[in-house]
Amino acid sequence: MRIDIITALPALLDSYFNESILKRARAKGLAEVHVHDLRAYSEDKHKRVDDYPFGGGAGMVMSIAPVHKAISHLQAERHYEEVIYMSPDGALLDQPMVNRMSTLGNLILLCGHYKGVDERVREHLITMEVSIGNYVLSGGELPAAVLSDALIRLVPGVLGDETSALSDSFQDGLVAPPAYTRPEVYGEWRVPEVLMSGHAAKIEEWRHQQSVQRTRQRRPELLDGMDQ
Ligand code: ADE
Repeated sequence: MRIDIITALPALLDSYFNESILKRARAKGLAEVHVHDLRAYSEDKHKRVDDYPFGGGAGMVMSIAPVHKAISHLQAERHYEEVIYMSPDGALLDQPMVNRMSTLGNLILLCGHYKGVDERVREHLITMEVSIGNYVLSGGELPAAVLSDALIRLVPGVLGDETSALSDSFQDGLVAPPAYTRPEVYGEWRVPEVLMSGHAAKIEEWRHQQSVQRTRQRRPELLDGMDQ
């Protein structure tokens, strides 16, 4: 998988992608993330990438020219399956959407800023808009990092334990069961006995029951229409 992120604030993303699980994925050659500075595509002498809105009003609007140049530059080098604008108006990201997108090859993520982007970018250059939640952030960089992380950790070989992504919360529509590690007894707090039994089938059954119970308590909407 290859992800190209276009942003006016590349420094915000560089540190994130040079650490964490994504660092390992890049080092192993399993995923590539390239961060592109939108200002490099500005022909303005001050490298501006925004301007005042026609019709007046507060806030600045991201201009079409640098965005168009950046996207065209990338598309001239390879085919991209989706050009995604990170926006609170977009389709709400959830695990099924991440799973579907994880099979794609090359993606461009465009980070918005200011009062948004010139509408012609959305009309002509973007193939999809994605929101990471019903709240407004000051830019699309954190959403782009969230989407990249969710996607890249699903690429086979990125997580140490091949099965661990499959047992995540939401992968089977349920939240994850509780997990414990040493020590077995901490003061008066003990690890549930079944986990110490060494009986794999019983442990599996217990974890499933815990997941169902927790989902019912914490996220009952996930069980709607599910046959438990
Ligand atoms: N940009 C600002 N807020 C956002 C959100 N909630 N999701 C995606 N992009 C955004």
